[in-house]
Amino acid sequence: MRKEIVLVTGANGEVGHGLIPYLSEHGKVHIVAMDIHPLEESLKKYCYHFILGDILDTIMLGRLVFEYDIHTIYHLASILSTRAEYNPEAAHRVNVEGTLNLLRLAVEQSQWQKRPVKFLYPSSIAVYGLPSLETKAKAGRVSETEWLNPTTMYGCNKLYCEHLGRYHAVYYKQLVRNNDEPCCIDFRCVRYPGLISAVTLPAGGTSDYGPEMIHHAAQGTPYKCFVRKESRLPFMVMPDAIKALVKLAESPIDSLTRHIYNVTSFSLSAGDILGLVKDAFPKVEVDFEPDRPRQQIVDSWPADIDDTAACRDWNWKPDYDVSRSFSKYLIPGITQRYIAGAE
Ligand code: SER
Repeated sequence: MRKEIVLVTGANGEVGHGLIPYLSEHGKVHIVAMDIHPLEESLKKYCYHFILGDILDTIMLGRLVFEYDIHTIYHLASILSTRAEYNPEAAHRVNVEGTLNLLRLAVEQSQWQKRPVKFLYPSSIAVYGLPSLETKAKAGRVSETEWLNPTTMYGCNKLYCEHLGRYHAVYYKQLVRNNDEPCCIDFRCVRYPGLISAVTLPAGGTSDYGPEMIHHAAQGTPYKCFVRKESRLPFMVMPDAIKALVKLAESPIDSLTRHIYNVTSFSLSAGDILGLVKDAFPKVEVDFEPDRPRQQIVDSWPADIDDTAACRDWNWKPDYDVSRSFSKYLIPGITQRYIAGAE
């Protein structure tokens, strides 16, 4: 008998750090984790097996089809927006070709198991592209289908992969498939706002000024914020990001009316974040020194997103509003992290 497993790519990343312990503690599942770097020590105890490998390695992925019964894939591996702008072609390879490889793996697994494999995919507010600050101010809470003109390679990649997922779920090989054959994969996607974790620092994102400001304050080091004080984005803390992904994964398929769902928690300007941080760390030193290209990216992302569909279809509701996020999660968690001596 082949082992039934959940596959998690990008295991060492921010979301992986939250998801793997959660799945292991709540899900009673065997996790096979994959990452291009060795698995972080703290995650090892939660994983049944770890694969050191690249999602572009199709031979390695092919072997997995024969080794395991993969019933769910959380495909987290990705190159974020700032990093992707330094090497757009490499980002395209990882973000798009890598996702296509995982979708192919899911199709093969579904055919093997004769049931659709669940494919959970985190997308992002980077899929949006608002043409001006006036439009951003007027747009308000942006729905899943508006303003989809991304200005970053990462945003283009995420938007296209949302479509690839939908294609694989509904239209895959539509001309050669028998009508009575079930669809191949069960693709489900959440579009995240900027994520903030108390445990890990983000790497290579453009919404990172939020988490960076908080982590610097807790360490007592000055921070140069690369956007204007007024810049506003939607944010969410990591426990809610994990909750959204897992809740969507667990929802009965009949309740879902879309493949892609916005989820959000609160919307803050960079100045608002500083205010909240100051309450906890009054000596915090932050200078606002906008970096034009990164500022433009943030200006093109919505100030808030509309998650009505997720609330309606699968009872999405964040556990942490802004005040609880800071008082019960971020400030105690981050303080603890640096007391414990993390870098
Ligand atoms: N946090 C991501 C980034 O900044 C956006 O979702 O790239």
